[in-house]
Amino acid sequence: MAEWTQKHLLDLDDVTREEIELVIETARSFKEVSSREVKKVPALRGKTVALLFFEPSTRTRVSFELAAKRLSADTLSIAANVSSMTKGETVLDMALNIEAMNVDAMVVRHQASGVPQILAQGTNTVIVNAGDGCRAHPTQALLDVFTMVDKLGSLDGKKVTIVGDILHSRVARSNISALTTMGAHVTVCGPGTLMPAGIAQMGVDVTTNIERALDGADVVMGLRMQKERQQELFLPSITEYVREFCITSERLKKARPNALVMHPGPMNRGVEIAADVADGVQSVILEQVTNGIAVRMAVLYLLLGRKAD
Ligand code: CP
Repeated sequence: MAEWTQKHLLDLDDVTREEIELVIETARSFKEVSSREVKKVPALRGKTVALLFFEPSTRTRVSFELAAKRLSADTLSIAANVSSMTKGETVLDMALNIEAMNVDAMVVRHQASGVPQILAQGTNTVIVNAGDGCRAHPTQALLDVFTMVDKLGSLDGKKVTIVGDILHSRVARSNISALTTMGAHVTVCGPGTLMPAGIAQMGVDVTTNIERALDGADVVMGLRMQKERQQELFLPSITEYVREFCITSERLKKARPNALVMHPGPMNRGVEIAADVADGVQSVILEQVTNGIAVRMAVLYLLLGRKAD
């Protein structure tokens, strides 16, 4: 059995294939808990998990809270706009005060890249990154990999195509990291203006041609146009983006016949993905959400279980 060596989960850069497989195996064992009449196991009884979300979230915040509760941990939620950060307290001072109340883990989402690292260095509490700026969203990538492995088996040699605003996407970065570690071939596709410089050095194919990107794909993942992170004008218009890059049922025919359609959410229907594709038989978008609870249970268990040893 592989060993879990991470003290925190900040990104997937140093997470090994064996550790990802351990998360998948652990999540598999937790998945059935959510379909029980009493959706609880005592694995983290007595632990406290703080949810620090400084940026909006539906899926990640709710599933981390459910994951902690289904492991019998206590949870507390702190929203920046009603905390003493409105009086000038820094995020690190706030975290140190939460730590002084003996919490065991802090799950952190922040609009600035690097905040989870700052908290990991400045506190003695387990930090779980729930998405920082454009940098990393490790549990999203783990739940995406879990969903793919669940449906396809091994990812060795599978073609995974990620389409959209790659430049601003922490989901793309974490997925590229996890998927290449798991042996998949990743193709990224989007407008040249939304493609980060040096992305090919992450070991991916890069194209602005969606037909080429989708050709023979085993998995097609759409990404949201992140207007809140676009201070400049990256596109002439959304209409032009839709014409060139929207994942339509016609374009999906280029992929393998049973290719999985995925999206981390929230979706802009009719922009990055057509509604009939999002709701179609190939879509596993809501299964990703369901799997997110089991994967986050696994992550909390591996991090806090290790601390308790
Ligand atoms: N996928 C994702 O991170 O969704 P939320 O922003 O709703 O958490």
